[in-house]
Amino acid sequence: MLKFLTAGESHGKCLTAILEGFPSGIEVSSGHINTDLERRQGGYGRGGRMKIEKDRVEITAGVRHGKTLASPISMFIENKDWVNWLDIMSPDESGEGAAVTRPRPGHADLAGGLKYNHKDLRNILERSSARETAARVAVGAVSKRLLHSFGINVYSWVSGIGEVFWDGSGRYSGFDEIFAEAEVSDVRCPDKKASEKMKKAIDVAKKNGDSIGGVFEVVVTGVPPGLGSHVQWDRKLDGRLAQALMSIQAIKGVEAGIGFAAGSMPGSKTHDEIYYTSAKVSSGNGFWPRHPRFYRKTNNAGGIEGGMSNGEPIVLRAVMKPIPTLYKPLRSVDIITKKPFAASVERSDTCAVPAAAIVAEAAVAFTLADVFLEKTGGDSAVEIERNYKGYLKQLAEF
Ligand SMILES: Cc1cc2nc3c(=O)[nH]c(=O)nc-3n(C[C@H](O)[C@H](O)[C@H](O)COP(=O)(O)O)c2cc1C
Repeated sequence: MLKFLTAGESHGKCLTAILEGFPSGIEVSSGHINTDLERRQGGYGRGGRMKIEKDRVEITAGVRHGKTLASPISMFIENKDWVNWLDIMSPDESGEGAAVTRPRPGHADLAGGLKYNHKDLRNILERSSARETAARVAVGAVSKRLLHSFGINVYSWVSGIGEVFWDGSGRYSGFDEIFAEAEVSDVRCPDKKASEKMKKAIDVAKKNGDSIGGVFEVVVTGVPPGLGSHVQWDRKLDGRLAQALMSIQAIKGVEAGIGFAAGSMPGSKTHDEIYYTSAKVSSGNGFWPRHPRFYRKTNNAGGIEGGMSNGEPIVLRAVMKPIPTLYKPLRSVDIITKKPFAASVERSDTCAVPAAAIVAEAAVAFTLADVFLEKTGGDSAVEIERNYKGYLKQLAEF
C-alpha cells in the first residue's frame, strides 16, 4: 500500500523523500516531522556534523492546510554543510577535491567501489552515509501521524551501550513511563544510573580513538490482532519488521520478543498462555485494546505469532555495531596504489545508538502504517476509521 523513496548525498544540497500511497485527511505538519528530526540529531557521542546540521523539513507536496491530500508527500531537508562542499559535490562542474582512495573497514567504501567501478570512493560513501536516515525519519514521522490517529504509538529506548546494560530491558508493560525517562536521557536509556555508565563507556571509547555500539528496543502499543499474514513469506509481519530494521545503517541483528533467548528456554516457559476476558472495556481512545478479548499475561512472542500481530504490544530489539570510521587507525589498502595504509579520520560519531533508535522508530512506524492500511483499506481517514471500527466490532464478537 505504502511506498517511499529517498534521494540525497551526505554532503549534497539536500535530502528528498517521497511517500506514496498515504491516505487523505491525516493531520501532518512540518512541526511534527521536525520534532523527530531533532530527536534523531541528539544523543551523547555524536560527532561534529550534528553541530553543523539543524535539520528542518520543508513539505513540498501532498499536504494542504495541515492535512494530507492522498497525493505523493514530498519532503525536502537541506544539508546546511553543503555550502562547504559546493566544489567537491557539484553535479555540473568538475570539482577540485582529491579522490578518496582509502576504504574504511566496516563501511560500504570497498564493496561499493568494486561493484560500481568507482575509483573515487566518495561516490559510494556519500550515499551509504547514515545522513540518509534523516529522510527516513521524516517518512516515519508522517507514518506515526496515521498510526497515532488510530491509537497506535511507537516508542524506543536504548537498553545497552558497549558492555553496559540496563537490567529493566525486556519489561512488557509501563511503556509510557519507560519512554518518558528515555526521552530525557542523553543516551535514551530509561535508567539514570545506567545512563551515566553508558556515557562513561562512550567517553572511554572516544578517548581511545575507538567507537562503540549497542542495543535498543522499539515497542508499539495499540496494535490490533491480525496485521500481517501467515499465508505468504513476504507478508509476515516479523519478517517485514526485521527487514525494515536491518536496512538501517550498522544494524546487525533483530529480535522479536525474547528473541535469541528462546533458543535456550523450554517451550513451556516460552509460549504466552491464552486467556479471555468478557469484560466490556475499551481503551481511552476507543480503539485497540477493546474488550471482550483474548489476551496474554506474558509477551515473550513480542506481540507477533505466525507472522501476524496477536493483539499484545509489539516488542523488537536490534543491535548496532560500533561506528566504522575510527580515529584509531585500522589496516586497509589504498585502491589505486594497492599499498597498505593506516589512516585516522577527522570527524565522526563515537556512538550513534540513541540516534539509531529514533531511526528504528521511523522504520517500524512505516512498516506498521503499511500493514495497518492493508488491513483497514480506505483512501481517507474517515473511510479507514469506519473500516477499522467494523473490524474491532468483529473482533469483539468473535
Ligand atoms: C544514526 C547513525 C549514525 C551513524 N554515524 C556514522 C558515522 O558518523 N561514521 C561512520 O563511519 N558510520 C556511521 N554510521 C554507520 C554507517 O553508516 C554504516 O556502518 C555504514 O553505512 C555501513 O553499513 P553497514 O554497517 O550496515 O554494513 C551511522 C549509522 C547510524 C544509523
